[in-house]
Amino acid sequence: MNIIKLRNYREISFEAAKIIRDQVLLKPQSVIGFATGSTPIGTYEELINIFNKDLITFENVKSFNLDEYYGINPMNKNSYNYFMKNNLFNYIDIKEENINIPNGLAEDVEKECEEYERKIHEAGGIDLQLLGIGRNGHIGFNEPCEEFKAHTHLVELKDDTIKANSRFFDSLEDVPTKAISMGVKTIMSARKIILIASGEEKAEIIRETVYGSITPNLPASILQLHDDVTLIVDEESGKYI
Ligand code: GLP
Repeated sequence: MNIIKLRNYREISFEAAKIIRDQVLLKPQSVIGFATGSTPIGTYEELINIFNKDLITFENVKSFNLDEYYGINPMNKNSYNYFMKNNLFNYIDIKEENINIPNGLAEDVEKECEEYERKIHEAGGIDLQLLGIGRNGHIGFNEPCEEFKAHTHLVELKDDTIKANSRFFDSLEDVPTKAISMGVKTIMSARKIILIASGEEKAEIIRETVYGSITPNLPASILQLHDDVTLIVDEESGKYI
């Protein structure tokens, strides 16, 4: 694992955006995997700045998001669909038809998951996947459990995740209890992965991700087996590594 330790959130956002910029410059038709949560917001702001300076175009980029809440309308302000539009897609020139986010309203979830995998495959696989990390070590919505789930699947969210994510909702009861998420193999099949983390509350989970045993109880630990992972941390989240 390639570890980049920087001073603060601004610097990690800048660094992650730079890696995405370079990927798109090198291969304009890149397939990029995007993440949600508060951590990537700075990265997206920086990407928008880069785009506004005419340094990059997303015209030929295809995107696949890691996950989406299940049972939530894409227009709902807490959907990841809404998040991506408002934090990135509305401000760059990515084509609507090239944006892929699991459909949280799919009636046939199994079919939706299979189709999502097929679309990734047909796009040629993910060139660069951006990841955040949950407080319990989840990546996408792959929650700690007894066995790694390989492909895109429906997840039952853990109580600690529901609680952590409730800060975006009006009340705890409003947080969906399920989500559709890329699986661990889907994520690990990306050619390049960037994991970003910020703040003291991520310090212990980052230490375990880097030095702990590889276990589905800490899904991010599987990243130790990937050939091209760059972990970008600030001083606080990186204090034990
Ligand atoms: C959600 C997302 C994850 C994200 C995590 C951490 O649960 N499904 O992809 O990594 O939140 O979020 P934050 O960056 O807000 O700590």
